[in-house]
Amino acid sequence: MEAHEQLDEILSCRLDVGRRTVKPCTMVIFGASGDLTARKLIPALFQLCAEKQLPDPFRIIGFARRPKTSEAWRAELRDALQTFSRLGEFDPAKCDTFAAKVSYCTGDFADPAAYARLRAQLDGFGNESLRRNLIFYLATSPSLFAEVAEHLHDAGLLERSDEGRDGPRLVVEKPFGHDLASAQKLNHELTRFACEKQIYRIDHYLGKETVQNILMFRFSNSVFEQLWSRQSVEQVQITVSEKLGVGGRGEYYEEAGALRDMVQNHLLQVLALVAMEPPVSLEAEAVRDEKVKLLKSIRPFEAGQMSAPVVRGQYAAGEIDGAKVPGYRQEPRVKPDSNTETYVALRLLVDNWRWSGVPFYLRTGKRLAASSSEVRIQFRPTPHVLFAAQCGENLDANSLTLRLQPNEGINLRFNGKAPGINMEIRPVRMQFDYHAEFGAYTPEAYQRLLLEVIANDSTLFIRRDEVETAWSIVDPIRQAWAGVPLPGTAFYPAGTWGPPCADELLARRNHKWRMTSDIASKPETP
Ligand code: BG6
Repeated sequence: MEAHEQLDEILSCRLDVGRRTVKPCTMVIFGASGDLTARKLIPALFQLCAEKQLPDPFRIIGFARRPKTSEAWRAELRDALQTFSRLGEFDPAKCDTFAAKVSYCTGDFADPAAYARLRAQLDGFGNESLRRNLIFYLATSPSLFAEVAEHLHDAGLLERSDEGRDGPRLVVEKPFGHDLASAQKLNHELTRFACEKQIYRIDHYLGKETVQNILMFRFSNSVFEQLWSRQSVEQVQITVSEKLGVGGRGEYYEEAGALRDMVQNHLLQVLALVAMEPPVSLEAEAVRDEKVKLLKSIRPFEAGQMSAPVVRGQYAAGEIDGAKVPGYRQEPRVKPDSNTETYVALRLLVDNWRWSGVPFYLRTGKRLAASSSEVRIQFRPTPHVLFAAQCGENLDANSLTLRLQPNEGINLRFNGKAPGINMEIRPVRMQFDYHAEFGAYTPEAYQRLLLEVIANDSTLFIRRDEVETAWSIVDPIRQAWAGVPLPGTAFYPAGTWGPPCADELLARRNHKWRMTSDIASKPETP
């Protein structure tokens, strides 16, 4: 090899070698007949099985009220896999291998006899690890979490164990409570039967490849981290926009709204990863300590001053991809005069040494113009001399965009000379594209998260103080909105970028929302 080629040698480093060990275990899914199980959990477990990532042996028990045999459940799962599995062509042999690990236990969540039956089923497993190394996945309504945990405890299946290794673990879905008080209550109830180390609170955004990459990107590159502070950054924008409406989830969404459904968890988690200080190690506690510290440094909203930094909206009828869609109030199981927000934009300030004075703009909404999630780091403009003196506002400031989905990647926008005899400056892009670099395959978030639970690693899960701090950030907003009808200006036609007052939120500081919806072919929006 020539010397110059050696310089370009690809150095890669596997961090999970020796760290992730998967031991034989059984996963019991409560809420086995539900949508989440069919759409996400089973396809993710199937994929892990097909990739030989699961421990051997491994068992899955579905627990739900509807009476059915294991054979009937396996048949249902086969159908679900044909619809939702990401493995290209459906492979019956792989499905059979997977089905052999699966069984079903009929039971009412409130019935102690059902837990005795579950225990008997587990006791029937020859391998001790399958009987004792247990994961209880609560894919149920949060109102059932505590009850299920208590019954598991009474049946001798769930013991508090401070070690957190190879013992029973509880996995709980969001929403974790509906405000700080209910989250604290839930934490209190769960920790009667399980230690914090045994509780895995899911935020599926943390399982996304691109979200995990935020830490690697920040802390394995010396180039960018030096710019990552108020000295160089003027503002940060985090957008999670969806074209989808609430569909059949009207009943849930009426209670949740965008603030609870997206901001309290996904957006604040992304913000924490983007803005946190470097952790002292990659251990779960070290990473989560820093996230909590960051969340705690978000300046609380002052009562009575909410209208300035927070905007809410609700979609009215409009058009998505050329098709007419109804407004939120016309969706099934939504009140015709509902005040639930389907859009939120807010400006947060992080009161710490690194970020003091830098606005973090967050926005999320349903039925927006595009389905797109990204973090945009907008750098400060150059001093008003040379090119800036001549171009004024027409000289674009640099920005770095972490594209979370779709078109996953990272791009840096800077200025260059347009070729030609004229002196024209315009923005150009340097782009990293996941698919071009690594091929089309990226694991589903749930695949990653389930594997982490199996491996007993809680880094990608939300700790108790984290979930509570996140609620304390959004609770005052919810309280300020309570009983106050949505103003007329809050309504936006489906298929647009939300209510105009969200633009005014930024315009007050001379900022505007920026998006790179498709960096390769389309101009920036809006
Ligand atoms: C869920 C919300 O947590 O995240 C949904 O409940 C939302 O309302 C979804 O649509 C978005 O997730 P993703 O992975 O599609 O960005």
